Amino acid sequence: MRNRRSFLGLVLIVCFIAGFYSIITAADTKKQQSKETPAKAQAIDASAEVSSEHPDIPEGISCSDCHEMKLDAKTTATQVWLNGEYLGKKKGEGVMTDDQLWKEIIKMIGGIKNNSKTYVLATCMNNRPLSTTAEWTLDPEKKVLYGVHEMGTEKLVHIKSNPWVSLNWHDEFAGIEGPYRCCQIKGRCELIDGTNPEFEKILINFAPYEDAAKRMMPKNPTPEQREQTLKNFRDQVFKKRFLISKITIDRITVVNKAFMKQGFRNVQRWEREAKVDSQKSNKQN
Ligand code: HEC
Repeated sequence: MRNRRSFLGLVLIVCFIAGFYSIITAADTKKQQSKETPAKAQAIDASAEVSSEHPDIPEGISCSDCHEMKLDAKTTATQVWLNGEYLGKKKGEGVMTDDQLWKEIIKMIGGIKNNSKTYVLATCMNNRPLSTTAEWTLDPEKKVLYGVHEMGTEKLVHIKSNPWVSLNWHDEFAGIEGPYRCCQIKGRCELIDGTNPEFEKILINFAPYEDAAKRMMPKNPTPEQREQTLKNFRDQVFKKRFLISKITIDRITVVNKAFMKQGFRNVQRWEREAKVDSQKSNKQN
């Protein structure tokens, strides 16, 4: 009886040591593994949450610094407004063609020189957003926007460090009946300086810069005098103290309640890569 009990005790101790040892070695190999091949951050859904196992996230770092974030575009409300079953429209019904939509976009935000529009521009640096009001002019051929900005402002620092921008143009609220005219743009911004030949072309063909030269203009100038004064102003003021932002529109979402009177949805969208993307998904299907 005494012998059996001590034997049982011995077995328990041996089991305990073996168990403990295997835990330690398992932890060791895990540590070594994570030293050798640190786990890679995979793409996650925008709705994903971190678990208690998640590696520490340093202050000021956001999910997208390590993970690619996937927006589930199929289920967002916008996607339903664009081509789902919505406001008496069947799936896919009431969607404008690219040409129809661009005619409406030009009506809404088109116009050069003094018909340029005021937008709110959103930029992002170190995960901190900044919104700025400024004027841009639409080039409807290239589907880009041009803005002329004095050097040394915060938004330009943002753009230099991160060219991805978003802009919004909108009408003031006019009551519950609308017409809610606005557009949201996503794009990439390039800064063009006075040494680039494109700079002067954009000033001459699009930007409302002539007003600024008024105080240097002689009274009742001849066409030659006018041209010379404007040239001096471009060379001595704009090329030296200003930068042009050229924003390539990648996606534009337009809202206008008046579209519904023509049998269209009030929300329409154009995407630069839309055709490439649909070709891709056709291949997959
Ligand atoms: C500093 C980089 C970093 C940041 C920031 C970060 N993660 Fe992670 N995340 C990782 C790594 C690395 C893993 C893989 C860890 C592992 O498998 O041991 C991971 C794993 C995950 C997983 C599990 C992955 C899976 O298989 O689906 C989720 C979910 C996740 N992270 C969500 C988030 C969310 C949400 C945020 C923002 C709140 C975030 N992460 C921020 C690095 C990061």
